[in-house]
Amino acid sequence: MPNAQPSITARNVATAVTAAWQRTSNNPSTLEIPLGTVATLALHTQINGRSEHSTCPLGQLDRTDLLRALTETWARTWLDHPYLVQIASPLHRWLDADADVSDETVRAIRAVLDAAHHAGLPRLVDRPHSVPAVDALGFLVTELRPARALQHLGEFYTPPEVADVMAALTMPELPSPGRLFADPTAGTGGLLAATVNRIRALGGDPAHYGWELVDINHLSVACAAANAIVWGLGDHMLVYRADSLAPGDHRADAVTMRAQVLEHHRTVVRAARLAALLTLRTQGDVSAPATAFAAAVS
Ligand SMILES: C[S@@+](CC[C@H](N)C(=O)[O-])C[C@H]1O[C@@H](n2cnc3c(N)ncnc32)[C@H](O)[C@@H]1O
Repeated sequence: MPNAQPSITARNVATAVTAAWQRTSNNPSTLEIPLGTVATLALHTQINGRSEHSTCPLGQLDRTDLLRALTETWARTWLDHPYLVQIASPLHRWLDADADVSDETVRAIRAVLDAAHHAGLPRLVDRPHSVPAVDALGFLVTELRPARALQHLGEFYTPPEVADVMAALTMPELPSPGRLFADPTAGTGGLLAATVNRIRALGGDPAHYGWELVDINHLSVACAAANAIVWGLGDHMLVYRADSLAPGDHRADAVTMRAQVLEHHRTVVRAARLAALLTLRTQGDVSAPATAFAAAVS
């Protein structure tokens, strides 16, 4: 089984994080903060590499630096993945008003970071795309939600070991690039993790394929978007919340929304590059080549 070991680690992360959150939080039924903290640690590890320390370095920061580091992780990720960061916003929106994050919650965030670090989350994500994709957020959402809520939501995910077998059986050879893989009841995307691993095992690159993940639950959709970044699914992505059984062209709405987010990103990045070049000019840095200026405004 190619990802038996990572899935054991992911289960351990979910158990440890849930225990830490429920032991320390004054609002243990909130899911966004523990899920968002674990997603942020995964992205932070991908950006900065894995720490060899026995404790999580982020967890050692004081309140101001910790909340800033978490926020900056999403800001840096936004530069490369604006659409997925937007879809994942339930996982990081609570960081926007950091004054509203109580000191008790900061302590609980530290406990979650340490628990995830100890249980091995960084090992699951530290070498992007050379470790098997595993749905750590899916295990965590299942562990955090009360059993009755899971039943009500029908939120029982296909075990990765089963998904691996299904992927191997349905994909004996590498599919042609450009093929679309879709899951209209994707949950946090775990079934597609097996597809990602199968494509890589066959020598392919998941970024050369199209991916569509839909779910009725906004938090599951946010986790699927974060997973898509961590797993390197590329730019041909559509992730959205919809009732897949309800009438209406949900896909068209999602395509429009993605185009708006990407246009906004282009505008902001162009303005930022222009501002940087103007700053260089006003500081008298004559080495800034005219061609770079032209590129910035093009
Ligand atoms: C059994 S889970 C399967 C998740 C994933 N496909 C897997 O195999 O691991 C079912 C998912 O369907 C979602 N769901 C249920 N009804 C839905 C609907 N009408 N439209 C979209 N998603 C729905 C639930 O939120 C849940 O995440």
